[in-house]
Amino acid sequence: MAMVWPRTHVEDGNISHSVWALRKLLQRPDYPDPIQTVPRRGYLFAADVRPRLREIHAGQELRAREIPRPLPLIGRGHESTILMAKLKSARASSGSVILMEGDAGTGKTRMGEDLMREARRQGFTTLTGRSHCEGGAPPYAAFAEILEDYARATPRAGWLRSVGEAGPELACLMPELRRRFPEPAPPDTVPAGTRRAHLLNAYRSFLTRVCRAKPVLILLENLHCADDSTLWLFRHLTLGIASLRCVVYVTYRGRERASAPYFAETLSQLARIGGVSRIQLRNLSRAAVRDVLSAVNGEFAPPALALLVFQLTAGNPFLIEEILVLLNSEGRLFNSAGGWTSTAGPDWVDLPPAIRARLDGAQTR
Ligand SMILES: Nc1ncnc2c1ncn2[C@@H]1O[C@H](COP(=O)(O)OP(=O)(O)O)[C@@H](O)[C@H]1O
Ligand SMILES: [Mg+2]
Repeated sequence: MAMVWPRTHVEDGNISHSVWALRKLLQRPDYPDPIQTVPRRGYLFAADVRPRLREIHAGQELRAREIPRPLPLIGRGHESTILMAKLKSARASSGSVILMEGDAGTGKTRMGEDLMREARRQGFTTLTGRSHCEGGAPPYAAFAEILEDYARATPRAGWLRSVGEAGPELACLMPELRRRFPEPAPPDTVPAGTRRAHLLNAYRSFLTRVCRAKPVLILLENLHCADDSTLWLFRHLTLGIASLRCVVYVTYRGRERASAPYFAETLSQLARIGGVSRIQLRNLSRAAVRDVLSAVNGEFAPPALALLVFQLTAGNPFLIEEILVLLNSEGRLFNSAGGWTSTAGPDWVDLPPAIRARLDGAQTR
């Protein structure tokens, strides 16, 4: 009663509305209407509605137990310790570049986002620049995005101070600066290489000024999709990173080296620059997968279920999240009391085609 008619007394004045609410709840396309209207008499239950009510009740409990998104971060203690140490060094004027390499879904962005949150808590300025894999982006797109991000987050006077005399050069990256600093001499009188060197100097002096105000964390996303101009600017800015109060956290898929020669060359050049370190982010271990499941439910997951999720996902966090959400939506993860179902077994591996297709799609993500 409490579920169907919360805070309501069913009485003459509201009986038709109350029955309407009950019908709406009990109705299912494949069920006949369980409530019959008897003219001039009232209503009659035409079927036993108790099984249906039990079903609804169980369904509501299942819906209530959502998979938290994002999942709690599991199994990255070692990497987190390294990242925290980099923030600490940057505060003490020793900057660094972290190359976070890993396949799709291993958690590169997630660790970057957690790092940004922690850096903001420590008083860092945090800025993001992305490279887009769809192509068609203008040159230096990721660095233009960083400029825009800084302009949005900084009061105008401070922003203009940081841009300083670099304004005319940086104007090619940002429309608002272009309005302030219209194109000077005809561009083709200056060789392209010289213009590029001027832009590098301008960006370096801008970054130096920004780092003077507060330490800075830059998240440079998807470097494997960066165009050559972005890679070039990144490599040259990295040469001076050790003396700045700055951490640059870079994400990329290492496998893309094979199909992108300039990207591969940039990575090997970066490896020889001081202040640059690389972390290879791998899939989670079997024990960590079990910990993810336990963190979801606050209770130890049955070993058979943990093993199954590990086998299906190879410990890839993105796939773990996907499969948990899908199995939960199928009602196969928790029993009606909200605990783990313990029925994981061979029949579970025979996933419904819809789930299998989603997983196959995700594998190629
Ligand atoms: N160690 C982890 N523990 C729990 N969830 C994780 C972990 N790493 C990543 N995730 C989750 O997996 C998903 C994919 O991570 P993401 O950072 O987008 O991968 P990538 O950037 O490497 O492609 C995200 O929803 C993220 O919250
Ligand atoms: Mg990512």
